[in-house]
Amino acid sequence: MEKIGYYNRKPMPLEMHKVCIVQKAELLPVEERVKAIRKAGFNSYRMESADIYLDMLTDSGVNAMTNEQLGAMMLGDDCYAGSRTYFRLADKIKEIFNKDYFLPVHQGRACEHMLALAYVQPKPGSIVPMNFQFGTSVGKIKYCGGDYVICLREEGLETASSDPFKGDFDLVKLEGILREQAENVAFVRIEAGTNLIGGQPISLDNMLAVSELCKKYGVLSVLDASLLQDNLHFIKTRENAYQNKSIREIVRALSDAVDIIYFSARKLGFGRGGAIILNDEKEFEHIKTFVASFEGYPTFGGMSVKEMEAIRVGLDDTMDERIICQGPQFIEYLANELEDAGVPVVTPPGGLGCHLDAEKFVPHIPHSKYPAGSLASAIYISSGARGMERGAIDEPWEEDGVAPYGAMELVRLAVPRRVYTVSQLNYLIDRVCWLYDNRELIEGLQFSTKGPHNFYDALEPVSDWPERLAAKFRKDFGDSL
Ligand code: F0G
Repeated sequence: MEKIGYYNRKPMPLEMHKVCIVQKAELLPVEERVKAIRKAGFNSYRMESADIYLDMLTDSGVNAMTNEQLGAMMLGDDCYAGSRTYFRLADKIKEIFNKDYFLPVHQGRACEHMLALAYVQPKPGSIVPMNFQFGTSVGKIKYCGGDYVICLREEGLETASSDPFKGDFDLVKLEGILREQAENVAFVRIEAGTNLIGGQPISLDNMLAVSELCKKYGVLSVLDASLLQDNLHFIKTRENAYQNKSIREIVRALSDAVDIIYFSARKLGFGRGGAIILNDEKEFEHIKTFVASFEGYPTFGGMSVKEMEAIRVGLDDTMDERIICQGPQFIEYLANELEDAGVPVVTPPGGLGCHLDAEKFVPHIPHSKYPAGSLASAIYISSGARGMERGAIDEPWEEDGVAPYGAMELVRLAVPRRVYTVSQLNYLIDRVCWLYDNRELIEGLQFSTKGPHNFYDALEPVSDWPERLAAKFRKDFGDSL
């Protein structure tokens, strides 16, 4: 792993790119920030981008592109069927994943829709074991008449930990399910890395063992590779057996072991789109019929050819260790600096973003008043940074009056790749540390309307705590933004 040492400074990540194009950003005064989050119903999803200084909601479709990607976009062969662009991307996918068939779709959840139509719908009541659930995936499985079973090791849910692969399957649990009801299993879904538990990686050995179990019991193995980029970095740096393997070799070992791979190219490949890839011609033809009906003709599947060309270049970048280490290094820096200041973060740092443990940050806010949602609003007020609630508000609401209980109450500060600089992270660290020292001022939230709710519904504060927090900010920071 390439590392930059420092002579006389604390180590910090170093950007391995230079900036060619920039977008202006504005930081509103704290009083305006309170108005903006109030207008958005204290729900960061409902905010307008113009009110945000650091947009750390997600890394999805917002990673900075390279000049090579932008250049490649001009090669897009806009044609309805049989576009050159399709074959160029299919060749790149074959080169990297060694799979013969590729179906483009408009984004990751469309892959999940296609797979649920192909494998869950024909078997009503079937189940999909997975290391952990993700909303877009389980939504489609349930919609098609199936259900999911979580097979994460118990250790995966410990927020403060030194376990390098908290996304690993509990293989004993998985084998028990496969032994008893293999016929009822639509497929096994491997999420690499694991979004909702803090972007935690899964080890290559564990994925290979899952695929062996699938083969033993005659069940399809499906890899959700949306978050694979960061996970590859963690395999390379945390899994001893693979330290001397190249990223391409690691991908190949994984790809050869699983039947189907899908990914959101909004995350993997620095573009926007999605892909399903596999080797079995019969299965390809089966899934293709759904792509043609729901997404678009199977040589573009709802994607723009410009994005397909950008993904082709982005996939090469994804195989470059020096490029993919940047995201995890930025996240590690953010998490370590906050942890050193006593702020409760999920450890070890994972991929996708730095995750704050809201239950520990604001232990005085009961679950019924949404600690993570309240903390996300307070972070915006303190810094102009928009994070994402990853807790009860984000969980699926099925019944009126019964509030869901998230497995964790986290606030995710996603780190879109190559978008923000170390000085911007330092600013954020300073503001989050200030907020931690003033955490008693944060109180809870409640929904403004009766349930059941969606994660994009409006909330309101239980008191005037946002204004009091802003007043304290003004007192401590004087006329600073
Ligand atoms: N799988 C995983 C592991 C994801 O993280 C996502 C998206 C998807 C599938 C769906 O992909 O958005 O392209 O339809 N995660 C985004 C996020 C939304 O912000 O974490 P999509």
